[in-house]
Amino acid sequence: MMDHSDAPPQDADALTVTLTVNGETHRLTLAPNVVLLDALRDRLGLTGTKKGCDHGQCGACTVHVDGRAINSCLRLAAMCEGRAITTVEGLARDGALHPVQQAFLDQDAYQCGFCTSGQMMSAAALLDDGRIGDSDAEIREAMSGNLCRCGAYKNILAAIRQAESEARGRGGDA
Ligand code: FES
Ligand code: FES
Repeated sequence: MMDHSDAPPQDADALTVTLTVNGETHRLTLAPNVVLLDALRDRLGLTGTKKGCDHGQCGACTVHVDGRAINSCLRLAAMCEGRAITTVEGLARDGALHPVQQAFLDQDAYQCGFCTSGQMMSAAALLDDGRIGDSDAEIREAMSGNLCRCGAYKNILAAIRQAESEARGRGGDA
């Protein structure tokens, strides 16, 4: 596990927070009100996680914390100490795309791509939990926290269906 340290505290309120992101540990000096999204993008340079609404309504900022999909714009970075954080940059494994990433590519499940990392992180969490429903309506409902202004929903649904059927073929190991 790599270890990166950050600059010393700038003021009396600053906190030293250790975040484990995609298997790497980072010590950051942060104001107590810094949200995980800003720590990831502005401090760690992990800009695959997008800032859309910045108040919990669009899902563009979705990452995994201990395997659960969360909106990183609503989670204080300091609350994530000791948790395993995964961003879209950490979704591929052993040099191979995650099945959800491959399915999004295969199904052309994006236009501008701004929502795509959040869509993929939510879909990957659903697959990992085995919470993909049987009907299209259930998948749409499960993914309803991720908005796509380009309206690529039909292809996103097809991608999730593809990833789900591949996961089933492998015995559910997404
Ligand atoms: Fe977090 Fe929109 S940026 S939900
Ligand atoms: Fe453009 Fe979804 S692909 S917002």
